[in-house]
Amino acid sequence: YKIKKSFPKDFLWGASTSAFQVEGGYLEDGKGLSVKDIPSPRPGITDTKMAADHYHRFKEDVALMAELGLKTYRFSISWPRVFPKGNGEVNEKGLQFYDDLIDELLDHNIIPLVTILHFDLPQALVDLYSGWLSRQSIEDYVSYAKVLFQRFGHKVKYWQTINEQNISLLIPGFYGVKDEDPDKWFKMKYQMHHNMCVAQSKAILSFRELCPEGKIGPAPAFFQAYPASSDPQDTLAAHYLEEIHNWLLLDLNVKGEYPHLAFSYLHEKGYTPEIYEGDLELMKKATPDFIAFNYYGSKCVSIDRGPTRIENLEYEGNDIRKRKSNFMDIPGLFKTVENPYLKDTKTEWMPNVDPMGLRMAINKLYDRYRLPLIITENGFASTDILEEDGNVKDLGRIDYVSKHLKACHDAINNGAELFGYCVWSFMDLLSTSQGFGKRYGLVYINRSDEDEKDLARIPKKSFYWYQGVIKNNGENL
Ligand code: BG6
Repeated sequence: YKIKKSFPKDFLWGASTSAFQVEGGYLEDGKGLSVKDIPSPRPGITDTKMAADHYHRFKEDVALMAELGLKTYRFSISWPRVFPKGNGEVNEKGLQFYDDLIDELLDHNIIPLVTILHFDLPQALVDLYSGWLSRQSIEDYVSYAKVLFQRFGHKVKYWQTINEQNISLLIPGFYGVKDEDPDKWFKMKYQMHHNMCVAQSKAILSFRELCPEGKIGPAPAFFQAYPASSDPQDTLAAHYLEEIHNWLLLDLNVKGEYPHLAFSYLHEKGYTPEIYEGDLELMKKATPDFIAFNYYGSKCVSIDRGPTRIENLEYEGNDIRKRKSNFMDIPGLFKTVENPYLKDTKTEWMPNVDPMGLRMAINKLYDRYRLPLIITENGFASTDILEEDGNVKDLGRIDYVSKHLKACHDAINNGAELFGYCVWSFMDLLSTSQGFGKRYGLVYINRSDEDEKDLARIPKKSFYWYQGVIKNNGENL
């Protein structure tokens, strides 16, 4: 065993975005609609028409990335920009945009890390066959991925398959389909989950042929779970949360197996998906090269002695804040509670700040799969004010990122193989739940939800701080 004492020399210091959250140009140059372009039912939330206007300003953005010293930029490709209808005819202008972006990155010595799908499934496929619910989506995802591998494989080494499949499926309607009956919805969502896993594995097998030099991996969100007490029932509850929300996806992605505890739950509830002959064998063959994961905070879990049906998972649109229970809870099995040892942020998505949870996540993932790891999202949301002196003093973000980087350092010292870390996000972007009212960026975008202003790019305090971290390869944390 080689135990490293610091960040490796070639550590990928990075920052992330995703297509629909930054690009704008939502119908430009032949792009089709995605499920994320459908106007938001929530008043006051900005839509994707303009976002941060990266589609037109990517050169300026890449110049800022170079100034920051980024080693890698993790972004996603918009499927409906490449295939406006999701399948069929390719849109050359869409591909050209990503060619230009990738070339610009390479010209600035920034390694592109491409996510094939980050939430924005073509709406046409939902209209045609209910999107991920149909097995046809597997073929269409693979055809789309192959076009990307053929076009960009010679210049993009690192790829991610599908962003946060485990989170997106917790929200009914997120991928354009839902059912008002919770049991029917759960059955549907586990079928979509299975289809998405088959699609990823098939794409990985094509990748092996088309890009033998490249590296590819899944992109889950990871949740470190703590039992709320030493009551063994709470420990079992925490175990269930990790099984259902983490391992159910990753065991399929990495080992081609349903983890037994999660599978017994699906079986008992009647949610088992239809599994075609050969599906699991195919997944077993498609071992990823690495695991990329997103981490924002941890969960504290207790046994739920409440109703055994899932009737309290009511929702309005996909606004998770309106739910009666936390979106990760499974009534009758487990519920998430406040962790008295951690600072509560009073938000559902990032309920607490828990850098040690990240250290444990890294060690746990490495322990279970022995694959190299990269963190593709970790970041701090705040309202961020552009002050009269032209500064954005986002000290909370500096504190958050520095604590999480120290946790990465500790995990590396523990022997885990972590080869990169990306701040979410490079620039302010359209938050999936709160528009521009909630900012994550190292670079401020001068706009609000109501007013597009001049969309000027203004590096925040955290930008200059992170620049120093990268320059010193994390030695001065
Ligand atoms: C992650 C997503 O789940 O969380 C991002 O991959 C998202 O796309 C981020 O922006 C933060 O969530 P939100 O809802 O604040 O945008």
